Amino acid sequence: MRIAVVGSGTMGHGIAEVASISGMEVKLIDISWDILNRAKQRMEESLKRLYDRGTIKESPEQVMRRIEMSTSYEVAKEVDFAIEAVPEILDLKRKVFEQLDKITPRDAVLATNTSSIPISDIGEITSRKERVIGMHFFNPPPLMKLVEVIPSKYTTEEVTNFTVDLAKKMGKVPVRLKVEVPGFVSNRIFLRLLQEACREVESGEATVEEVDSAARNKLKLPMGIFELADYVGLDVVVDLWKVIVGRGAKDVSCSSYNKKVESKELGVKAGKGFYSYQ
Ligand code: CAA
Repeated sequence: MRIAVVGSGTMGHGIAEVASISGMEVKLIDISWDILNRAKQRMEESLKRLYDRGTIKESPEQVMRRIEMSTSYEVAKEVDFAIEAVPEILDLKRKVFEQLDKITPRDAVLATNTSSIPISDIGEITSRKERVIGMHFFNPPPLMKLVEVIPSKYTTEEVTNFTVDLAKKMGKVPVRLKVEVPGFVSNRIFLRLLQEACREVESGEATVEEVDSAARNKLKLPMGIFELADYVGLDVVVDLWKVIVGRGAKDVSCSSYNKKVESKELGVKAGKGFYSYQ
């Protein structure tokens, strides 16, 4: 099985790593060697952690050998499956799909890791919208079991089944959606949780730390709610919310996330969000 991953950021490099761990031949594509080299370093660090813990049997070097990196789409010309993991900008995703549509074999399946954009809006740019599907991983991909599989109104049953099987081969637990609802399954719940937590803090009922303690110790979440928002990225949270509201969800948003983004406190990646990461 040969798979192309376009975009080597937080999600893309993690998906490439997972695919290679499950024995697939991976082509990882991005726009510059600086970005690809950073991705390589992050995959090596993650694989070392998995190897040291005994989660994987192959050495990090063996897993990395199946991953070819490139700044050209040419490497995708013989793949069976391609997954796009570039930023959540529709025009950008459409450009990636135009390229993949041109270069990959006619019967290859093209997937998007979008967390909010309708799959049909992306698929319509290609000449094979019935072979385009959503395959939504969670951060960090090597550890998070859930994968949402989202067929669009055009996607065939065969492509959906193929993607569900692929997720299983990657050791994931696929959840197959019946229709393309905004935010799919998990982000609709996740975002409302974030907004409710934010309102508790803004109304003075509890501090950020107290909400997070309740989330860990009562709700038994692995991270506090604000801690998780920082981990996902506060810009991502705000963008996701906009897309979901833009597609008809009730706007119950709370201002702290916007304020953090305006002051460039984007969470872990910026060194500061609701918490400091120096
Ligand atoms: N690769 C390999 N190993 C990793 C890793 C990675 N990327 N990240 C963490 N680990 C390992 C650590 O090395 C550590 O290993 P040891 O136990 O051997 O030391 C182990 O995982 C636990 O890590 P930590 O001690 O640092 O912290 P933790 O126990 O809190 O686990 C976590 C980290 C798995 C991320 C956990 O906190 C968690 O599950 N958090 C919730 C994540 C979540 O909900 N993600 C979804 C976000 S939403 C999204 O992604 C979609 C969207 O559309 C926005």
